[in-house]
Amino acid sequence: MSQISHERLLIIDFGSQVTQLIARRLRELNVYCEIHPYQNVTDDFLKELAPKAVIFSGGPDSVVREGSPRPPQSVYDLGVPILGICYGQQVMMQDLGGKVEAGESHTAEFGRAYVKPTEQRIDLLAGWFLEEREQVWMSHGDHVSEIAPGFAVYGTSPGAPFAITADLERRFYAVQFHPEVHHTPNGKTIYENFVRDAGFSGDWTMDAYREEMVKKIREQVGDSHVICALSGGVDSSVAAALIHEAIGEQLTCVFVDHGLLRLNEADEVVGMFRDHMNLKVIHAQEQDLFLGELEGVSDPETKRKIIGKLFIDVFQKYADQIEGAGYLAQGTLYPDVIESVSFSGGPSVTIKSHHNVGGLPEKMGLKLVEPLRELFKDEVRELGRELGLPTSFIGRHPFPGPGLAIRCPGEITRDKLEILRKADAVYIDQIRKHGLYDEIWQAFVAILPVRTVGVMGDGRTYDYACALRAVTSVDGMTADYYPFSHEFLGETATRIINEVKGINRCTYDITSKPPGTIEWE
Ligand code: XMP
Repeated sequence: MSQISHERLLIIDFGSQVTQLIARRLRELNVYCEIHPYQNVTDDFLKELAPKAVIFSGGPDSVVREGSPRPPQSVYDLGVPILGICYGQQVMMQDLGGKVEAGESHTAEFGRAYVKPTEQRIDLLAGWFLEEREQVWMSHGDHVSEIAPGFAVYGTSPGAPFAITADLERRFYAVQFHPEVHHTPNGKTIYENFVRDAGFSGDWTMDAYREEMVKKIREQVGDSHVICALSGGVDSSVAAALIHEAIGEQLTCVFVDHGLLRLNEADEVVGMFRDHMNLKVIHAQEQDLFLGELEGVSDPETKRKIIGKLFIDVFQKYADQIEGAGYLAQGTLYPDVIESVSFSGGPSVTIKSHHNVGGLPEKMGLKLVEPLRELFKDEVRELGRELGLPTSFIGRHPFPGPGLAIRCPGEITRDKLEILRKADAVYIDQIRKHGLYDEIWQAFVAILPVRTVGVMGDGRTYDYACALRAVTSVDGMTADYYPFSHEFLGETATRIINEVKGINRCTYDITSKPPGTIEWE
């Protein structure tokens, strides 16, 4: 259960692909909400959480099927407003005495649809139907064929005569479409009206969160020391800054320099945290160790495994020197928490073994401090701003733990890394100069394991080729290549080839994910 004392909204998850979006919409309205899979929502759980309102998510099952997912009946007796969405609407109708029929092709609706109002207007729909109809996103096979006693209809669509229903007395609302998705352009208004009706004061702000977490961290940690693996990424940076605010000198960060960082990266990260923010930072200079072990290795998974293992060894070596260390700080975010409890389970096949310090706490007998567990990525960024981290830090593109090793297909050598660092710096400089940095999820150069012939001045060159990569993405799970102009690409290639000795050819990677991945290895 949560560490939070704000007004709470409970989202009961029936397995929809877009449940997280409901939470996003609510957080944007400064409402604190938690997603819990329906199996975990028992009578006792409801009592303990004491939500001020409840939302039933959509889901892939059919309420007509015996044994399909249900909320506990006590949810209807809480006396708080409930909003059912899609499967959530059907569950509510069936639970309260209405009827749902299994899907037939003429009643199923998938994709864009238009809802028209009925005669009576209700507060839930304030700001809706300013035009004659509203565009919504439908995705249902089954449909409600008879609404439950006490409910009335306030919106209809060709495939869903009960698209919007409500029992105003009990403040139960149920809609067949998905107001949380982008394709329901006015969907957020429904959530806004719903939480207003439920009496939320909008007390969820990063300012309030910061204050509350500082108190919590102090309580949790007491006199113990906390160690934090600082990577320079947004999550570990914000976690470190927040913990530092709470316990100051009791926090020590370890920044592992594996020799696979970008140009000036170590100095920038260590400089900022140590000199500007006064954190205790150990700069673990372990370049020789990592590069030594990686010598001659070209298999991507072997590289990852070597780096992951060494990282843990090195971290442990430095952490052992910190007296009284009882806690390990981790920048776990809310999406990771939801993933691990979700009833649909996590990802199935390992494409790449990501490295993290996951196994460390047990091994070292450390407890965890995870002050970002309740937050989404953009909330972490906002909190970072609150804590005074520079904007340039907060908006940084993600950088993988194994660093440049996975942007250097084939064998890794110091020479290649040197060339790669320079090329990458020119590329990022170009992107910043053209004002494109914030539009791009991630951009980097990969140095290719081939040398090609070129001509510069009057001479022949035989140097490395490189690939530029830039993608847009929401979460790194899928991605599209960024459509740079030819002018930008031409100018950038010219700069890299002129300014970086060792590269004489530039290509642009136009692979999306899937079938590609973002990194080259
Ligand atoms: P891929 O290459 O799998 O990358 O499409 C998706 C996102 O994850 C990052 N990435 C990593 N991050 N440790 C990390 O912390 C890793 O081992 C790792 N491998 C990939 C990658 O940069 C992209 O943002």
